[in-house]
Amino acid sequence: MNPFGPLPKPELHRHLEGSLRLRSLFDIARAEQLTLPAPTAEHFRTLVQVRQHEPFTAENFLSKFRVLRLFYRSPEIIQRLTAEVIADAAADNIRYLELRFTPVALTRARGFSLYEVMDWVTTSATEAARRHGIVLRLIVSVNRHEPPGLAAEVAELAASFRPRGVVGLDLAGDESRYPAAPFAPIFREARAAGLHITVHAGEWGPASNVVEAIEALHAERIGHGIRVLEDPNAVALARERGVVFEVCPTSNYQSGVVPSLEAHPLPKMLAAGLRVTLNTDDPSISGIDLSHEFALAHEKLGLSREALWECTATALDAAFLSTPRREAVVNAFRKAWQG
Ligand code: HPA
Ligand code: ZN
Repeated sequence: MNPFGPLPKPELHRHLEGSLRLRSLFDIARAEQLTLPAPTAEHFRTLVQVRQHEPFTAENFLSKFRVLRLFYRSPEIIQRLTAEVIADAAADNIRYLELRFTPVALTRARGFSLYEVMDWVTTSATEAARRHGIVLRLIVSVNRHEPPGLAAEVAELAASFRPRGVVGLDLAGDESRYPAAPFAPIFREARAAGLHITVHAGEWGPASNVVEAIEALHAERIGHGIRVLEDPNAVALARERGVVFEVCPTSNYQSGVVPSLEAHPLPKMLAAGLRVTLNTDDPSISGIDLSHEFALAHEKLGLSREALWECTATALDAAFLSTPRREAVVNAFRKAWQG
């Protein structure tokens, strides 16, 4: 049994679209008569999940999200999938979840409006979190490889959804080919409107992308960021600013950032004095849960239970939460971890 299964865990970096139940997707494909090149259940799995025989590349990883965009075909489907994501997180004893979603992705299959999909996701997620007794906050993602004009519209809507649990704005997508700088004015506005900022950087791109995320976008947290170690000046900047890294080991392995799980630089990041948290990124695409990532960090990367508590405490400290709310969550976690 996984010893981390029963412990309460916080997750700061999980994409809704990468967390969908395969069984539900399969049912939707059938009910909606989606034409997919998947004659068998195993073929179907390959379309939406990274399998062992596939190329471990960013392109292959991102291709799964493109297939998944075909499934968001009604409010009922979007709300059902969202509620299941929360239920699955709760079943893995994630007691604090920041779930991010990409409104643009959810609009595409049927030409829904951005407002509609944000309404459906926030309503369903909030209701499910209440039912499962977990503390939930939402982050809205925009992609670098999609037009900044679209991102501006999404960011403005995200700010208007603050009363409905949206606390942050995230920049995701292909950082190997698309710089963050064109998004700087949008992120400045978002910050001014009270949203927190997290940016995918230093995953498929160099350490300089981490610097850009911190300096141009004022990122408080970095998604992945593991390549920061390639530049001591970038490490120094991240330390000085207290930037928190949302590290996702299996995702990094499956998208080809690290050659093996054992080679993951998470321990080196901790040794360099960086603030590190442990996350899944896309549990259903990767076929994992957060307890799996905790066990992996313990068994394959040599992190002690105390080090994993440190990562947990860092996540709670870096959570996009108000102070009184944070203190209540931290106390409940500490009791469970320290007995
Ligand atoms: N990197 C960039 N964009 C993403 C990722 C990722 O790991 N997952 C979902 N969108
Ligand atoms: Zn991500």
